[in-house]
Amino acid sequence: MNATTQIELIQPDDWHLHLRDGPQLAAVVGSSARIFARAIVMPNLRPPVTTTDQALAYRERILAALPAGSLFQPLMTLYLTDQTSPAEIERAKASGAVFACKLYPAGATTHADQGVTDIWRLQPVLEAMRALGMPLLIHGEVVDPRVDIFDREAVFIEQVLRPLIDRLPGLRIVLEHITTAEAANLVRAGPETLAATITPHHLLYNRNALLAGGIRPHLYCLPVLKHERHRLALLEAATSGDPRFFLGTDSAPHPLRAKESACGCAGIFNAHAALEVYAELFEQAGALDRLEGFASRHGPDFYGLPRNPGRVRLFQDPWTVTLSYAFGDDRLIPFRAGELIRWRAELVQSDTHDLP
Ligand code: DOR
Ligand code: ZN
Repeated sequence: MNATTQIELIQPDDWHLHLRDGPQLAAVVGSSARIFARAIVMPNLRPPVTTTDQALAYRERILAALPAGSLFQPLMTLYLTDQTSPAEIERAKASGAVFACKLYPAGATTHADQGVTDIWRLQPVLEAMRALGMPLLIHGEVVDPRVDIFDREAVFIEQVLRPLIDRLPGLRIVLEHITTAEAANLVRAGPETLAATITPHHLLYNRNALLAGGIRPHLYCLPVLKHERHRLALLEAATSGDPRFFLGTDSAPHPLRAKESACGCAGIFNAHAALEVYAELFEQAGALDRLEGFASRHGPDFYGLPRNPGRVRLFQDPWTVTLSYAFGDDRLIPFRAGELIRWRAELVQSDTHDLP
């Protein structure tokens, strides 16, 4: 049988994206807008996006930074803190521009220092979210320094996530950027209100890529890459056709100087090649026919948003990833820098829905 050399998909969305701000935003937003129709934009700026007014202002900055003519729609999120009130959730929902709230356990990752210290104290906020159908997006790692970094997601699932699902049935939850078999199993067996995003890097690499034969700071992210057995479980979940797994790149650019450092920060920039890398992975798994569900249908269905009217074409035309991009006053090293990627994506038809 001949290999498939071209497919067309409903235009995809990115359900987990870091766009940063200022000159960094201007440097990266076009990479996402090139292919994706919409993206759930993470609120971990400095200071974090904790109010609806801040989210609306950030949305305007994103729109202003888009390439001319782009129809890309940023879907905004709020950063939950110990001070978030149910009234703020109501304002967020009423704005029509905020589509979810992000839970960072305090200190779990980049710019998470103002995150939540005790999730149970947020119960009224979570109840307001449940009542409004506002999804809770979770960075699912415990921050207890006694817990091994490779175990932090699995421990979070047992200590926090299972009790949360039991206490707040009906709350829509996305476990973001899952990295373990435990997370994939939890979602598969969980209620239909529980979903997960999966990144290209966690599908492509295990921890050897980060640490064997030399440390590779540009493959350092959080949650950290795991054992091969977990990568295989993620690949199985992503390509299974289960509608609770969908595309979220977690593209998270950092300046070269902050990555190549004695204490390098977490985050991988992959927006320039995300759909193409997913296509390679689905092709290798013999599941190209399931890419559209993962990339373009499961996400909007979970969020209760219309699927995109636009379409993208993916075709085999190998290209080499740029070695670095300009990024504010520094450089940005992209995922797969200097490597060949087999698939190329282009928009065949772009169109948008008015958001509800
Ligand atoms: O690797 C990561 N980078 N993980 C996160 O959770 C945050 C992100 C960032 O903002 O850089
Ligand atoms: Zn993220």
